[in-house]
Parts: sequence; C-alpha cells; structure tokens
Amino acid sequence: MTMDRYVITGKQRLEGTIRTSGAKNASLPLMAAAILAEGTTVLQEIPHLTDITSMADVLVSLGCKVTLDHNECSIDTSALNDCIVDETLMRKMRASNLILGPMLARNGRVKISRPGGCAIGTRPMDQHIKGLQELGVTIEERHGYIEARADKMRGGEIYFDIPSVGATENLMMAAVLTEGTTLIRNAAREPEIVDLQNLLNKMGAKIRGAGTHVIRIDGVHKLTSTEHTVIPDRIEAGTHMVAAVMTGGDITVENIIPEHVSPIIAKLHQGGAEVTQNGDSVRVRHNGKFKAVDIKTLVYPGFPTDLQPQFLALLTIADGTSIVTETIFENRFQHVAELRRMGAKITIEGRTAVIHGRPNLEGAFVEATDLRAGAALFLAALAAEDGTVLERIDHIDRGYEDLERKYREIGAKLQRVVKQ
Ligand code: EPZ
Repeated sequence: MTMDRYVITGKQRLEGTIRTSGAKNASLPLMAAAILAEGTTVLQEIPHLTDITSMADVLVSLGCKVTLDHNECSIDTSALNDCIVDETLMRKMRASNLILGPMLARNGRVKISRPGGCAIGTRPMDQHIKGLQELGVTIEERHGYIEARADKMRGGEIYFDIPSVGATENLMMAAVLTEGTTLIRNAAREPEIVDLQNLLNKMGAKIRGAGTHVIRIDGVHKLTSTEHTVIPDRIEAGTHMVAAVMTGGDITVENIIPEHVSPIIAKLHQGGAEVTQNGDSVRVRHNGKFKAVDIKTLVYPGFPTDLQPQFLALLTIADGTSIVTETIFENRFQHVAELRRMGAKITIEGRTAVIHGRPNLEGAFVEATDLRAGAALFLAALAAEDGTVLERIDHIDRGYEDLERKYREIGAKLQRVVKQ
C-alpha cells in the first residue's frame, strides 16, 4: 500500500478535455465472470487501478493466468485449481466476494473469508447468501469463512429485500450454468449489471432483463470465452463534471454514455451549470455561483451514492443551504469532518447533512478515508484558496486511473509526494 500524498494548489481554472476510463465497478464483475468460460477471456478498457490488480491477484490465487497489458486484460481459466480466497486478499478488496457465484457454477464449491465492515458501512452479505440458498447451494459459516457447495443446485426464484448490486451480479453468475430457469426479482438496475449480462450472453448465456427489476436466466451447459469492451466509468465522469463547476471551468468529458450520468446532469442544471451533450461527450461550463440543491442518494437511476461525497464538496461553496440525504450506506459522511477542516459549514443529523454554502474553502491538511471521500477532498482542494495536502491517496488509486496526468493536462497544479 502506498502512503503517498497529493500537494495541490487550488483556485486554478480547469479547461480542456478529459477522457473517462473504463468502469471499475463493471470491470470487477466482468473479471470474475471470466471464471465461467472455458478458454481465455479478453477484456478491453480495463483501467489500471489497485482494485483491478487485487481482483487479478484473487484470480491468480485460484489458478487462473491473468495478464494486464495497457488496458487489455486476458484471463485464462484452463488451470483453475483452487477454491479458497483467504483473508489477506479479501481484506484488500471486498468486491472479491464476486467470485462466489462464478466459482459455484464452474467448480461446485468455494470458500471465501467473510468480508468485514468498511469505512462506509457494515455491508452485510445476507442477500447474496439468501439468493444462493434459494438455488439449492449449501452454505456454512465457520471461523470467519463462508463455505458454499453446489451439490443440489437448480434454477429458482429469488426476491431481494434490497436491490443489491453485488448480490444481483453474484446470482446472475451462479445461475448461468445451472439447470432450469432462475428469476431474480427486485434486482438492481445499474448499468454495470447490463454490461455483465452483455458479456455473459456473448459467452453463450441466456439472460434477459438486466436493467429492469426482473432478470431471467435460462441455464446453459457451457460458456465459451470471448472478447468484450467494458463501459465507461460513470462515477469518474461525474467527478470531472463536478470539477468543472467547482473551479469555474470548462471541461469536456469524453467517453461517456450520457444516459448513465443523467441524474448528475439534472442536478448540475438545477444548480445553474451549463451542460451540453454531443454524442459520447458532455461539456460542463460554469461561472459565478452554483445554486444550492438538495440531493438524496438512491439506487440507479437515482442519484448515485458514489457521487454523494463529490457533490457534497461542491455544495460547501454553493449559494444557499443544501440538504444531502444518504439512503444507501449508513456511514458515508466521513469526508464531512475533513471538509470542515477546509472551512466547510456542515451539520449532520443521522443520514442527513445540512450544508451552509460559503464563498470559499481554505487549503488544509486532510486525509482520505475511502475512495469517494478522497475524490471529494481532491475536488475541494482544487477549488480551495492556497495549498492542500491530501493524505492516504492510496484510497484514490483504487478507483481513478491516471488522475494526476488527466488533471495536469487541464490546468491543475498538483504533485504526488511519494512517502519513503
Ligand atoms: C457496489 O457495491 C459498488 N461496488 C459500490 O461502489 C457502490 O457504492 C454500491 O454498489 C452501491 O451503488 C462495486 O460495484 C464493486 P450493494 P455493493 O450490495 O455491490 C446493503 C465505490 O466507491 N446490502 O448494492 O457492495 C449494503 O450494506 C464502491 O466504487 C445488504 O444489506 O453494494 C448497502 O447498504 C463503494 N445485504 C446496500 O445494500 C447484502 O447482502 C447497497 O449495497 C448486500 C448489500
């Protein structure tokens, strides 16, 4: 883990073009899905991120051969020989739990260290487990491990109490090679789930309904490896769009599926920013004051929780008072204490933050507590008066490819200081 920090000089107007990388949260399930196919799966536009190397490490530990070259990732599963993901790998990244479904389908058994809570919430696994049990999987939990066996697996009907992204993905991958038909009701509808359906169907699966509340999977006997290009990262794109507004700048974000960022565009419009779409790019311009807006995070197509911290940073310098309600994670306000160090006026009551906009933020020493909190502080630093030192940027390295290069190219002044 790097303990690098950014030193950022604020108040530079950002202007120019930024290209969005492939989506981290689509890449991780796609990499796990490679387990399901015989042969070598080739994924394009996989971003260079520590979360991606963590998933590659998990696949290698199971016996796969993984190569990451530029943005191409090849996964050869012909020597798959293990079925245990230990605690060290699981602690590095909780999305390692996405191998549960594909390993059960391909290998019939799997054992993973149970992921603990994290900086944004307790994040239980009950929906994943309930869904797998519905398909006849036997699950035992012992000594901090979840051990699953697929001896009597068959298609079934699953109703999620919460439309969980990870549980929907895991169940799709578990059911794809299972005899009979599986219905997932109250499924999550995120674009990353549609991308997973697209890859699996290219491999020979029969899945319909991703992007709606009901997904139907007709089991097939085998899947064949294929090539696929991952969708652009809507959260990265949204982060750049907020950067344009916070710096009074003019940024064209390329490689976007505009529909995927429509809740962000709507809020930027509402606050008075100028947003124009042109094919797969979106231009965001702003000068003057952004007007306070209220935000409530919701499952897709609602406002994404993964952009709540960045928007909250923007609202600290908006004109008026905003209310931000976080409904997805119970503890996703850790950036607030750090933003206060930069002069922000925010009060928190349960899952609601009340933000009193101020004319300016001031540079300070701040620390990232998780990926998106880190992104929020990064944006705050770009907009603040004077310099900011942002610690623990290993969190940012998990999810933003080439951030320094991309921001230097549009006029930001920042430096990575490598801690010895
Ligand atoms: C995915 O996490 C993303 N990660 C998260 O991105 C994102 O914040 C989240 O979806 C919500 O959009 C990946 O795609 C790798 P969930 P996931 O299961 O699948 C509760 C980022 O910054 N829940 O939809 O883990 C859970 O505790 C990250 O890039 C249960 O109660 O999210 C949470 O409150 C962070 N039981 C809510 O549901 C379960 O069995 C949504 O979680 C599963 C989830």
